[in-house]
Amino acid sequence: MIRLLALLVLATVPAAAESLTRGPYLQLATPTSITVCWRTDAAVAGRVRYGLAADKLDASAAEGAATTEHRVRLDGLAPATRYWYAIGSAAGDLAAGGECAFTSAPPTGSPVPTRIWAIGDFGNGGEGEMRVRDSYAAYAAGRAIDVWIMLGDNAYENGLESEYQAHVFDAYRDLLRVTPVWPAIGNHDTAQDPNPPPTIAYFRAFDNPQHGEAGGVPSGTNRYYSFDHGNVHLLCLDSMTSSRALGGAQSRWIEADLKATKQRWIIAYWHHPPYTKGSHDSDRETELLEMREGIVPVLEAGGCDLVVCGHSHVYERSRLITGHYGDSETFCDANVLDAGDGRDRPYVKQPGPRHGTVYVVAGCSGKFSRAMGSHPAMPFALNGVPGSFVIDVAGDRLEGTFIDFQGHPRDRFAIEKKDAANAVPSP
Ligand SMILES: [Fe+2]
Repeated sequence: MIRLLALLVLATVPAAAESLTRGPYLQLATPTSITVCWRTDAAVAGRVRYGLAADKLDASAAEGAATTEHRVRLDGLAPATRYWYAIGSAAGDLAAGGECAFTSAPPTGSPVPTRIWAIGDFGNGGEGEMRVRDSYAAYAAGRAIDVWIMLGDNAYENGLESEYQAHVFDAYRDLLRVTPVWPAIGNHDTAQDPNPPPTIAYFRAFDNPQHGEAGGVPSGTNRYYSFDHGNVHLLCLDSMTSSRALGGAQSRWIEADLKATKQRWIIAYWHHPPYTKGSHDSDRETELLEMREGIVPVLEAGGCDLVVCGHSHVYERSRLITGHYGDSETFCDANVLDAGDGRDRPYVKQPGPRHGTVYVVAGCSGKFSRAMGSHPAMPFALNGVPGSFVIDVAGDRLEGTFIDFQGHPRDRFAIEKKDAANAVPSP
């Protein structure tokens, strides 16, 4: 009888007045909270129902005012726990069930296996974008992405609302419902404008942590930020619209942020790469030059282990290197801390300043092209091969893998972290 009454009540709930036009997608994931985002065609007060099973959404959170850009923060979550959710309003759900779920982040500092997926220069709506998306899914074989980073140029040609809708939110609809996303901004996201208005689609779509909500020192801006996941500290930097100068606001924030972190691994990512001879040249272009001269020294002094960038529509990768801030012709043996390829024998490094960083360019997750040459700092390169970059961190080991558009691993390296007393000297 009770079940019958419940069915009658459900049957009399009016259909939602609003329609879903974007999402849901997930941002700002921490061990105890996450933000669920979506867009509707009509303004309503959004509501998220959530719980520990798809058919047991017994908790809820709601917005206090009607809007079309919905942001609902779920707090008080248990760490490393699977939740299911439904979005909508008091009038009913717009999306729900098995396809809407997330796992809260593990306790900060815990050395649990972490899968980070990086895509760069992907959002052109072409066959390359879809092949890279689908081939990565085949490669992953059900292994969930814990941290999804976008390296900028997320929506070609000019980062318009319609381009973001088609090339990001529609193209990655299913993955966005289950995977928190941490985007960087590129030149195409601002239509090449270094001073874009706050109304551009990138800023409207993404609320990145600027108050230290997910760990790290507050940046005070939506444009660059840091966060923690497990024992990894990640910095998303802005090479397009913020200062790239040594001693500038971004550089000073990086210095403070890296001084404060106690995390075992440090990974930084942004759009314009410091070393490339792919479809762009780091000897000639302002943003690339300035990131290398103004930002890379601060990252290396802060103990950064890995840098991942886009912009150049190829894959390129360095050895374990340090101290190279000039043009490519000045790169020399003194910059190379381990001359190996990092494949058969991992790079071994101590924590702390200037013990080496590996640099990766993966701006070929949709766009892809032939390289104009080869950069001496980036000896491992692929030409005209679309793909994406995977980082697997587990305890004191970090493994990086480039996955091509057919799902094949084409480059792989590892870094192992050893404290000074146990450090193995490089040959
Ligand atoms: Fe770019």
